[in-house]
Amino acid sequence: MEIVNPATEEVIAEVGSADAAEVDRAVERARAAFPSWRRVTPGDRARLLRRFAALVDSHTAELAALETANAGHPAGNARWEAENVRDVLDFYAGAPEREHGRQIPVPGGWDVTFAEPLGVVGVIVPWNFPMVVMTWGAAPALAAGNTVIVKPAEQTPLTALRLAELALDAGLPEGVLQVVPGEGETAGARLVEHPDVAKIVFTGSTEVGKEIAAVCARRVKRLTLELGGKSANIVFADADLARAAATAPYAVFDNAGQDCCARSRILVERSVHDEFLGLLAEAVLAVKVGDPRAADTEMGPLISAAHREKVASFVTGAPYLQGSCPSGPGFWFPPTVLTPEVTDPAFTEEIFGPVVAVVPFDDEADAVRIANDTRYGLSGSIWTRDVGRALRTARAVEAGNLSVNSHASVRYWTPFGGFKQSGLGRELGADALSAFTETKNVFISED
Ligand code: NAI
Ligand code: MG
Repeated sequence: MEIVNPATEEVIAEVGSADAAEVDRAVERARAAFPSWRRVTPGDRARLLRRFAALVDSHTAELAALETANAGHPAGNARWEAENVRDVLDFYAGAPEREHGRQIPVPGGWDVTFAEPLGVVGVIVPWNFPMVVMTWGAAPALAAGNTVIVKPAEQTPLTALRLAELALDAGLPEGVLQVVPGEGETAGARLVEHPDVAKIVFTGSTEVGKEIAAVCARRVKRLTLELGGKSANIVFADADLARAAATAPYAVFDNAGQDCCARSRILVERSVHDEFLGLLAEAVLAVKVGDPRAADTEMGPLISAAHREKVASFVTGAPYLQGSCPSGPGFWFPPTVLTPEVTDPAFTEEIFGPVVAVVPFDDEADAVRIANDTRYGLSGSIWTRDVGRALRTARAVEAGNLSVNSHASVRYWTPFGGFKQSGLGRELGADALSAFTETKNVFISED
């Protein structure tokens, strides 16, 4: 596979593409490594994960530069992502020693529970946040005693391959964490259907997620899905409008809109709709789009020419406003504001690019109705100074990750995941280990 820098269109690497037989060999190695990995004592497993985190920490600049070159992420974002990989590994390094079972009172003996690892876990990763999404799946899986095979996206395998090297350098045994680059339809599909893979963690499109769920269903294979989104940013008239407008572009144009949490629908109370649009326009025109290596760049290119074509197809009429972006090589697309009908595909479909749609609403009930009128339910924001309304709305919106007077919804120690067709299960947070273990109940007779 030719790996392309999306900001320059230059080929920066060539990476082999695994066929089904190669995936089978990786599964065999992961299966062979499992019995001894699960028996590594909790303290030693913790120490190995901490060492892995420390190596990531001393390589954050290198990993960030790789992600900038391979995925076009602005340098500041890429740095945050490398640090997030470190922090997630550190966080789950604390897990092996805290994986307590329960003791349940029963007559005639004792009853205890154990959290048993599943075996081989397959983590299928998209191109939008390559190293971060890989680690959200791999770190808790490893901490729980599973062995892991990562299938990175075709476009972005470089940080995954580097992380696998760092894991070996940290002392993780061979076969415990493997990265197998390849096509989704071959390498990914083989991982999903392989009888010796106990669980799949998939992040990507809702369409592929549904196909994978159907294949997993045949074997009752465990599955976590993190899929698409079309999240609402709800701005009430009593909000701090200046702050709501100044922050709204970054809630959707971050990573050039290639973010499943993007607040790509802005719902504004009708009485302040025009005022908000004026403030939003100023903020959108101020977004710095350009060379992702520059320290002050806020938005880089899209991942590929094909993806840019898909994004452009949603901008049919004249946009309300369009910012600027570099011309020449690179898959650039300008920050774009639309004011469509609520039935327009730009308002109903995940665009996954720097395109935001703004519509008015009449009252709280109307805002909740529009926000929930979607098959998705990943994230969202609520802007109001009325705490009662903030909580009522947060409880009424059908989404897994909401923020009030903020757009922050991802922290490695809080749960993350979607309602409805945005996903199945939760990642991150203290409970993520339960997605990588089976509860075993054992009764011991007192006789
Ligand atoms: P995709 O869902 O096809 O790819 C995601 C990952 O799944 C990649 O590693 C791919 O190789 C793998 N894959 C693809 N088909 C597979 C199969 N049959 N079995 C196993 N693995 C498979 O996403 P794609 O094609 O890169 O992007 C299409 C659209 O999906 C985007 O335009 C965007 O709207 C959405 N998307 C959403 C993401 C999110 O985080 N919500 C992430 C990536 C894409
Ligand atoms: Mg695809």
